[in-house]
Order: sequence, then C-alpha cells, then structure tokens
Amino acid sequence: MRARAYSRAIIDIGAGDGRYPLHVARTCPDTFAIALEPSLDAVRDAARSLTRRPLSNVALLISSVEAATLDGMADEATIHFPWGTLLAAVLGERADVLSAVARQLKPSAPLRILVSAVDRDGRTPLSIASLEELRGPYADAGLDICEIRAASRADVEVARSSWGKRLDAGRTRPGFVIRCVRRGDEAASVLASGGPDERSRTSHR
Ligand SMILES: C[S@@+](CC[C@H](N)C(=O)[O-])C[C@H]1O[C@@H](n2cnc3c(N)ncnc32)[C@H](O)[C@@H]1O
Repeated sequence: MRARAYSRAIIDIGAGDGRYPLHVARTCPDTFAIALEPSLDAVRDAARSLTRRPLSNVALLISSVEAATLDGMADEATIHFPWGTLLAAVLGERADVLSAVARQLKPSAPLRILVSAVDRDGRTPLSIASLEELRGPYADAGLDICEIRAASRADVEVARSSWGKRLDAGRTRPGFVIRCVRRGDEAASVLASGGPDERSRTSHR
C-alpha cells in the first residue's frame, strides 16, 4: 500500500460512508487515511466522489476488522457509532474482534471510540459506570482505557459521523467517548505470544 510514503496513517474502522477518512485525507496531506468497512454499499458514494475528485492519500478497504491485515499500521484509529460485531467488540462481548481492532494499531497508538446504545437497540442503556467495567476486557485485548466520558454534539461533528448525526447523539440521545491506547511493544509481544493467560503463567514459572 502507498501508506509508507506518508508520515502518518489513520484507520477509521466501520467507516460507513467514509466521510471521516475522506475529511482527514483532504485536510491532512501528510496523512494516509484508510476507511475500513465491510459493506460495499456503504462506501459507494465515497468511491464515486473519489472518481470525480481523486485523492492519492486515501484507501477504501472493503473488509471487516477481523479479516483485515493492516497489522500495526495505524498511528491512530477511530470507531464511530459501531453496530453489529463491531459494537459487540466495543462493549467487551467479542474479545476476538476487539483484539483485531488492537492489532491494526502501532504500539502506543491511540484509539478513539464514539458509542451509543439505548433500549430501542435491544440493549441496556450505556452509562459511564457500565463502560468503566470494560477496562478488564480492553486490557486483555491490549488496549488501555485512558478516558470515558459523555459525548457532546461537538464530538459527533469532529467525527464527521453521518450515523451520529442521524441518531442526534450527544443531544437527544446519549453517546459516549472511550479513548484508549494500544499497549507498548513489550505488552504487545506478550499478547502476540498467547495473551494475558500466557503472561501470568510465565510470570509464575
Ligand atoms: C452505524 S454505522 C456507522 C458508520 C460511520 N462510522 C458513521 O459514524 O457514520 C456502523 C458501521 O460498522 C460497520 N461494521 C460492523 N461490524 C464491523 C466489523 N466487524 N468490522 C468493521 N466494520 C464493521 C458496519 O458495516 C457499519 O457501516
């Protein structure tokens, strides 16, 4: 991939219509932006707009995060208003998918998540207290949570999230920001060699 020619790479996981990575590519010419999205339909308009107005520093990658092989490429990653298996990963219910998210990041690289779930989604409404319980599952996936807070409308606007706007997240519907970082080299290599269970086994040998 051309990404190596750029000083930074960002990955928007579950990019939907790709507005965020397109915005980054247009406004940060030194950054290579990747829209990672399994639905071809979702990125169709972004692909059309790139045909009209080409950009050399953006890629639309049609793949789920678990099938992606961008291992350790991202200097920063984002997940904005996930659904399906990506939502399950963010809420600590799919350790395999959360590990795949972590795997796309360089050691110490940040991941910023915007998430919302309410009764209407068939889920218990999220709260800061319920999200605090995710620290363990995230640590097991190699992600250290730095901050959990309520999302504002400004967070949704910065994310260029079409879905967040549609939900009116940060205004009539509660949304949350989870900021985390991928563990550094040492921890990442422990995880690659078998995860935290392996780490505790080896430390007791
Ligand atoms: C509600 S949309 C949000 C799209 C965009 N981020 C936004 O804020 O407008 C959720 C997206 O997550 C994607 N998604 C679901 N599971 C995924 C997975 N396992 N890997 C990558 N993307 C996934 C869906 O295809 C969908 O486009």
